[in-house]
Amino acid sequence: DVAGLVDRFARVARDLRVSITEKCSLRCTYCMPAEGLPAIPRDDLLTAPEIARLVGIGARELGIKEVRFTGGEPLTRADLVEIIALSATAAPGLPLAMTTNGIGLDKRAAALREAGLTRVNVSLDTVDRDHFARLTRRDRLPAVLRGIEAAHAAGFTPLKINAVLMRETLADAPELLAWALQHDARLRFIEQMPLDADEAWKRSNMVPAAELLAVLGTRFTLTPAGRDDPSAPAEEWAVDGGPATVGIIASVTRSFCEACDRTRITAEGTVRSCLFGDDETDLRGLLRGGASDEELADRWRAAMWGKQAGHGIDAADFVRPLRSMGGIGG
Ligand code: GTP
Ligand code: 5AD
Ligand code: SF4
Repeated sequence: DVAGLVDRFARVARDLRVSITEKCSLRCTYCMPAEGLPAIPRDDLLTAPEIARLVGIGARELGIKEVRFTGGEPLTRADLVEIIALSATAAPGLPLAMTTNGIGLDKRAAALREAGLTRVNVSLDTVDRDHFARLTRRDRLPAVLRGIEAAHAAGFTPLKINAVLMRETLADAPELLAWALQHDARLRFIEQMPLDADEAWKRSNMVPAAELLAVLGTRFTLTPAGRDDPSAPAEEWAVDGGPATVGIIASVTRSFCEACDRTRITAEGTVRSCLFGDDETDLRGLLRGGASDEELADRWRAAMWGKQAGHGIDAADFVRPLRSMGGIGG
């Protein structure tokens, strides 16, 4: 039995999300500024062996049950396959997932699978090429679709698709769902959170889950099917009687912070206890200073103890976090 990552509200973090880069091949307006994030100096990024060591400590000492690699875009890191392979060795049997925009996956899906990656979630907001280009500021829809195809071919099934709800693409939602059903992908829509670098997010203008349900209802019959497990962010809906489902992650209008089981490591090697919690705890200095596994685990536990109750987006005194989503990793 391990002493896990417990916080003051008695939540236990078992889901580790590791951001491995700030770089991205797209510039989604809800996540990144047009010019991209300031480059992280190379020496400040955790190396593949450092990442794998933290994954191993998480699994052995802290009760981590699943790891998800995020970015930025993980596929922009040249040593991604090595990161996965070393992590798989450091934590045998631990599920290793990745959230990606899919660009470049056609070239690396098979190698990633071979290295030990177990699941892939691809972000795709619309299958309308013009709308995609406007939202992501890059005309790369065909590359994303190639990546999804390669992920399937490499055996990453069921594949999940994440779509952030935006006004500009809301009308495309039924078409995206039809596409996902045809392609054997599990689609999940996500309420936009105030994590865009441009600070354009407004509570009054975000698309709430209820509005999406109305739009999807014009083409499909949806019936509530609950959550896959209590800490899953998505509520599932059966489509036209099932068995296919569509998920809705209503982070804002039906927040799930009280059941949160996440702990995050940033690309620079700090622990971030909440998407919205700006105080981060450095592990990189300890790693490079020769600290033991126990010392690293203790620092990590202390960081999580201080996790805030929730995002507080609807509170009068809400302040946006300093980092945008691209710098945290979703
Ligand atoms: P699965 O394990 O496949 O269910 O993945 P996941 O949902 O844990 O991870 P993914 O990266 O696919 O995240 C889906 C979306 O959920 C993200 O894009 C975020 O918008 C949202 N999300 C992820 N983590 C958090 C979180 O800790 N808090 C909140 N409020 N939303 C989150
Ligand atoms: N709100 C909600 N989800 C977001 N993502 C990026 N920015 C936001 C935001 N502001 C999602 C992406 C991807 C995951 C990493 O985070 O679509 O699926
Ligand atoms: Fe967990 Fe913070 Fe996300 Fe809420 S906002 S679900 S507490 S990480």
